[in-house]
Amino acid sequence: MDALSLISQEHSNIWRLAITVDHVASEIEAGAAVEQPFFNAVFDYLEQFVGRSHHPREDDYLYRLLRLRCPQVTAEIDRLQAEHRQDLTKLAALRAQVAAAAQGQLSGGQLAAALNDYTTLLKTHILTEEKSVLPLARSVFTTADWTEIKQAFQSSDDPMFSDKSRAEFRQLYHRVANLAPESVGLGSSSVGTLQPLPERSKAEVQLRVQGMESCYGRIKALKGISIEVRRGETVALVGANGAGKTTFLRTLSGVQPMSAGSIYFKGQDISRLRSDKRTRCGICQSPEGRQVFGPLSIEDNLALGAYTQPRKQVPGDMEKIFTMFPILKERRAQSAGTLSGGQQQMLAIGRALMGRPSLLLLDEPSMGLAPMLVEEVFNVIRMLKSKGMTILLVEQNAFAALAIADRGYVLETGTVTLSGTGQELINNEQVRAAYLGM
Ligand SMILES: Nc1ncnc2c1ncn2[C@@H]1O[C@H](COP(=O)(O)OP(=O)(O)O)[C@@H](O)[C@H]1O
Ligand SMILES: [Mg+2]
Repeated sequence: MDALSLISQEHSNIWRLAITVDHVASEIEAGAAVEQPFFNAVFDYLEQFVGRSHHPREDDYLYRLLRLRCPQVTAEIDRLQAEHRQDLTKLAALRAQVAAAAQGQLSGGQLAAALNDYTTLLKTHILTEEKSVLPLARSVFTTADWTEIKQAFQSSDDPMFSDKSRAEFRQLYHRVANLAPESVGLGSSSVGTLQPLPERSKAEVQLRVQGMESCYGRIKALKGISIEVRRGETVALVGANGAGKTTFLRTLSGVQPMSAGSIYFKGQDISRLRSDKRTRCGICQSPEGRQVFGPLSIEDNLALGAYTQPRKQVPGDMEKIFTMFPILKERRAQSAGTLSGGQQQMLAIGRALMGRPSLLLLDEPSMGLAPMLVEEVFNVIRMLKSKGMTILLVEQNAFAALAIADRGYVLETGTVTLSGTGQELINNEQVRAAYLGM
């Protein structure tokens, strides 16, 4: 890895930490308890690694050489270095404020404000380095300069990833990793992509899939898919027939083997979990083609969806489904095979809801339905979304899916080729040409 990448990677780690602190601060502001051990871990990290290791190395190598090569930026470097010098003092003050807040001597709002002040400073500092210092260094440093910097940064012992404090930091790392924005997500360290989180993605990441691969025999149907879904989001995965949408959902549910990659759900690595355990975690799927059990009654089909749930909650949950889909209530005792296609789709969604999903997977719910029924199915999805359900919606009907989705991914032959908000994708020329017939 080159010197710039090393520095940028460290910036990414620090950035993630700042985002995590912001997130926890907003929870505290909303009334959550102050977890002192968490903050101690964060401050230890910032003190030991950032304050005593990262900053001094920037001072001694990056800044020193930049002063030498570009005397005209001395003032800006002085300012950045002054921020380095004040860092440990600021951290000590924050530690005291956290302790005071834990003992009720400081309000949650006051602590949150102090934490935000600090993270804002930290982020501004990193952005300045990423957007002006490093590009400048790139244009003026000699090869010898870079070699010197690389040696200095390579000898770093980032406690976040070293054996030394691994146990202590593991939990923090997972929290941090799960809250990182995609632009600074795991493995990404390109210069200039650091972006403050937009408001909508403040919610924690519910699902993070990275580099997912899956094969049928020797044919690789998924070639390294990475997506994330945040709590309360509706995310659409659109793509032509055969793109790998169903394979993706089946691999996510654990019924199709994953040959590479990882799946994190609510911060836990579930990559190796059996499919029934994943359902228990709250990943419930309404499969492609509905697959209701035709000979069984509607009630029995719904009860099957609750097989991971305690029995005593089944009748109550079933009533909720019946309130949502009155037609199912009318016909509760009839066999599912007597339902129309649209009604079977409602039943399939209802069955998935019986598992009390915290992530609802819908595979082509509009497939094979008459246009009016398609509208009805999308109304149901809209309603679930408005209730706060987290939804991953797979559709060939790209326009309808993107219209209700917060964000979307375009899948082409096993690869994600585009991503953005639902509106961005609808407005995208390529998407319009390829999927929307416009
Ligand atoms: N059971 C299977 N055996 C072999 N190949 C399969 C199987 N299921 C799907 N595929 C292939 O994997 C690719 C992705 O299929 P699929 O996930 O069903 O796509 P989509 O749901 O987007 O239509 C296609 O090329 C398809 O032919
Ligand atoms: Mg499919």
